[in-house]
Amino acid sequence: MAKKLKLSRRTKEIPKSGIRKMFDLAQKYEGLVNLSVGEPDFDTPPHIVEAALKAMREGYTHYTVNAGFLEFRKAVSEKLRRENRIEADPEGEIMATAGAMGGLSLAMLTLIDPDDEVLIPNPGFPNYTAQVVLAGGKPVYYPLKEENNFHVEADDIAKRTTPKTKAIIINSPSNPTGAVLREKELKNIADIALEHDLYVISDEAYENILYDGVNHTSIASLPEMKERTVSIFTFSKTYAMTGWRIGFVVAPEEIIEVMLELQEHILVHPSSISQMAAIAALRGPKEHVQKMLKEYAERREIITKELNTMLGVTCIKPEGAFYVFPSIKKTGMSSEKMAMYLLEKAKVITVPGTAFGDYGEGYIRISYATSKEKIREAMNRMQVALEKLNN
Ligand SMILES: Cc1ncc(COP(=O)(O)O)c(C=O)c1O
Repeated sequence: MAKKLKLSRRTKEIPKSGIRKMFDLAQKYEGLVNLSVGEPDFDTPPHIVEAALKAMREGYTHYTVNAGFLEFRKAVSEKLRRENRIEADPEGEIMATAGAMGGLSLAMLTLIDPDDEVLIPNPGFPNYTAQVVLAGGKPVYYPLKEENNFHVEADDIAKRTTPKTKAIIINSPSNPTGAVLREKELKNIADIALEHDLYVISDEAYENILYDGVNHTSIASLPEMKERTVSIFTFSKTYAMTGWRIGFVVAPEEIIEVMLELQEHILVHPSSISQMAAIAALRGPKEHVQKMLKEYAERREIITKELNTMLGVTCIKPEGAFYVFPSIKKTGMSSEKMAMYLLEKAKVITVPGTAFGDYGEGYIRISYATSKEKIREAMNRMQVALEKLNN
């Protein structure tokens, strides 16, 4: 008789990924265009790859300190001063992490006690919920509404703040909506954090992917916010480095100290080679990044224009990241039904909005981190499939 599994209760509480579910379903179909991917379709710029090869040849193949090479942290500190208006001490307030996910999970484990409530954007990156649950905390969702261009209304956060609230998670530019929070909006969120003595976990994974001259502001750069903010950054999106698993966190020294202790027990540190490559990314030429951004901007034009001509679909132009989050409410179909319909009839993989939370009902997420050619093909197929709905 097979041995009965006795896995931890913790593992049973993790919500299933709606993105993964679509991906698994898609395995049965052929000739698909995949618009569900959340990673750049570009390769890592060659000078970054070269820096990694050089590092390996020169023997940077050993353990590093838990926070990562001091030179890595210095390069990060320069970048934070230059781009984010954050002054951070490389010897205490910065640590290297395994991408944004590494930073997020360590932040949750460091800040969240069982039964602490954590305010999470909805629709939002689904991993926040899983990570809060894994830390024993309770997710409490604040809505992002289309009528507000999916921006955060501070009042929606204030209303959900209780004596048990420990932290607010914010994500700008947002996955899945592409909304970019302005300084004034961040100031309003900061006021709530200050009034109720809350931490802010600020996921800035898409900080460089911006359109139409919109600027990114780090909430930690606002007065009195650095001491209560854990800012999460990654090389994954800006430099097309998802597989390298490298990012960093800026936070008060006392928090970094504990996160480093946890990192010692979980990961020790992110790859020494990726750290060396990341230094080259930060200090090296930026033409490749500019090229990728130009390409995303052109795709964004195509995709929003096409979607807005489709029956029952309306699509706001995103301000950042590489996703659109069109409304399909006028078709009368649920998000799940629509994603399944598009998979079966158009052979296009999208993600139901509900994979990002209940407030995602009535929407689908489409990634444009894929070639223009594939985007055009997918748009044509969707157009045809949606027209059939009315006949
Ligand atoms: C909002 C957001 N945060 C974090 C991540 C994780 O990024 P990383 O590869 O740096 O762990 C993603 C990846 O899709 C994301 O969309």
